[in-house]
This record gives sequence, structure tokens and C-alpha cells, in this order.
Amino acid sequence: MSALLEIQDLKTYIRQRKGEVRAVDGVSLYIEEGETLGLVGESGCGKTMTGMSIMRLLPPGGYIAGGSIILDGQQLVGMPEREIRKVRGNDVAVIFQDPMTSLNPTMTIGNQIAEMVKIHRQVKQREALDRAAEVLGLVGMPNPRERLKDYPHQLSGGLRQRVMIAMALSCDPKLLIADEPTTALDVTIQLQILELLYSLKQRLRMAVLLITHDMGVIAGRADRVNVMYAGKIVEAAPTVDLFESMRHPYTEALLASIPRLDQRTDTALYSIPGLPPDLSHPPTWCRFQPRCRYATAHCREEEPELAGDTPEHLYACFNPVGRAGARPQPAAAG
Ligand SMILES: Nc1ncnc2c1ncn2[C@@H]1O[C@H](COP(=O)(O)OP(=O)(O)O)[C@@H](O)[C@H]1O
Ligand SMILES: [Mg+2]
Repeated sequence: MSALLEIQDLKTYIRQRKGEVRAVDGVSLYIEEGETLGLVGESGCGKTMTGMSIMRLLPPGGYIAGGSIILDGQQLVGMPEREIRKVRGNDVAVIFQDPMTSLNPTMTIGNQIAEMVKIHRQVKQREALDRAAEVLGLVGMPNPRERLKDYPHQLSGGLRQRVMIAMALSCDPKLLIADEPTTALDVTIQLQILELLYSLKQRLRMAVLLITHDMGVIAGRADRVNVMYAGKIVEAAPTVDLFESMRHPYTEALLASIPRLDQRTDTALYSIPGLPPDLSHPPTWCRFQPRCRYATAHCREEEPELAGDTPEHLYACFNPVGRAGARPQPAAAG
């Protein structure tokens, strides 16, 4: 059986006056039906552009320069805009970090969800509102019928994110892209929203692409994880394997920077020294090399391929963590 989503060698570039940004530079990944795939990496490494390539919602100058995106048997690359519109919301839906920028402040939440339903289903306003109340109930909105007449500003940040999720679910997508869905929320609300996404995924048997910069969000919630750095996947593994025996030094560094609940608030969180490379002129050798404590001369000679001892656990590194002989070198980056 083939995967629900299969991306092969995707290249998404953004044309700008000073050159072209290779936001996504040869990404391959897959998501099985009902599976949650975590896509993790620091800010600016191409996670959002990967998600937006699936939705074909790219910023000005953005275009898919190569590769293939097959969703439920349909090739999305090259598909005309009017057909993509049917895929968007029907087969795949997205929720973003900040619900306030995606909700219309002048429209009741009931009408906003109903509009969404009517784009994809041939139903009258009344039925669309019934569906809106139903999905609001599904996302744990108290008294959903009465809330249909509320405006976004009348709701807390957590409830607004529930409305966004309800909107995304209103057409029963097979794949939900959740792009930093809790980054803008308080810690307790974050946990509630993540629990909600997890339970919805179980109940609706929907696949989820969970995008985050925070490894802590992934733990226990994703089946598999793809770690992204500078436009590329650098490690791919089942979540448990990744946490227990990560091979890429970048993954190791990301895991070391998870905030811990028992951590004293006056101790600085570990952050990876240095910065990701400029994606308009990416190096032809290992992109993480300048920041890597295991780097050797080899790492500046060529770019490591994504490969591994088993097809389930892949990594792009010449000196993987845990291999005999791999020793931390003095840090190269400042
Ligand atoms: N609207 C935009 N215009 C130009 N460049 C952009 C835009 N959005 C993102 N980029 C560039 O694309 C690269 C990947 O960005 P993005 O996918 O948003 O990263 P992430 O989601 O991992 O933080 C970055 O180098 C970023 O500067
Ligand atoms: Mg992003």
C-alpha cells in the first residue's frame, strides 16, 4: 500500500531581488494514513515552506522548482490552481501559529466555519451552521451552539486556536498540517491544544504533519520525526529511536535544547552556537559543519547523503553520534 502523502526531492525556491532562496532544497518524506509525522528544526530551515508547498500557498516569488508531491494518489506539483483549491480544505487543511491573523475579525465564528463548509460541500447556510456547531463541539468548545454568534476577539487565545482547528476539520481532511500550532499560547493551554490534536487524530483517523521548532512538542505525540536543517532533511526516524539513539549531531543539539519543567528559570537554556547558513548561497558540503562538535575535514569536502543501516532510521552525517571513534571536536563556530 502506498503512503497517503509522498514527497520526492521537493525543491521550493523564493525569487527575490538579491537572488533566490532555496527554502526547501530536495526534501523527501512520506506520511501514512492516520500517522503523525513531526517536522522539527530551528526557525528558518524550511518547515513552513514544506507545508505550504503541499497547500500551494507560497509567498510572492515562491515556486516549486522541482520534485513531486503525491497526496492520496494525486500529483499536486503542476496541478492547476482551480483543482488545487478543491484539494485544499477537502483533502488537506492547515492550522497556523497565530489564529488571530487567520480569522476574520469582522465575521462571527459560526459564519466563518459555515463559509468554509459551503466552499467544499453543496449545503445551505442552516446545514453549514449545524456542521459548524458539530465541529466546535468536536474541538471541545463549551456550548458550541451559543458560541456560533461570537466574534474572534470575544474568545481567549486557546479558544481561538480551537476555532481554527474546527475550521480545518469541517471538511474531514485526510491530512492536517499543524504549523507551530501552540507556539503563541501559554504553556498550560499549549498542552491542552496538543492533547486535543492527539485525540482528534485518534478519533478521526486523520494524518497529521506536526511542524515545530520544539522537540518537546514532538515527544509522545508523533509516530515518526523528520529533522530539517537548512532546507534539507538531516535525520528521519521513529520518534522513540530518535530520542533514544539520535545519530545526527544537529538532532542531538536540538534534543539538548528542550526546556525542562524541572529546570530552574534562572539557568539559561542550551542553544546551539552559530547560525544556519544563508539559503541563497548554501554550501556544497555539510550545511551543519560550522556548528558541529563532531566535524572533521571530510565534512567540508562533500555533502553527506541521507542514508542509514535500516530504511526506518536515516541520517545525513559522516560522523554520526554514537559511532565508535566519533568524538566531539572543539566547537568551530562562535
Ligand atoms: N515570505 C518570504 N519571503 C522570502 N523568503 C522567505 C519567506 N518566507 C520564508 N522565507 C525564507 O525561506 C526559508 C525557510 O523559511 P520557513 O519555511 O518559513 O522556515 P521555518 O518554518 O522552518 O521557520 C528561510 O530562509 C526564510 O528566510
Ligand atoms: Mg515556520
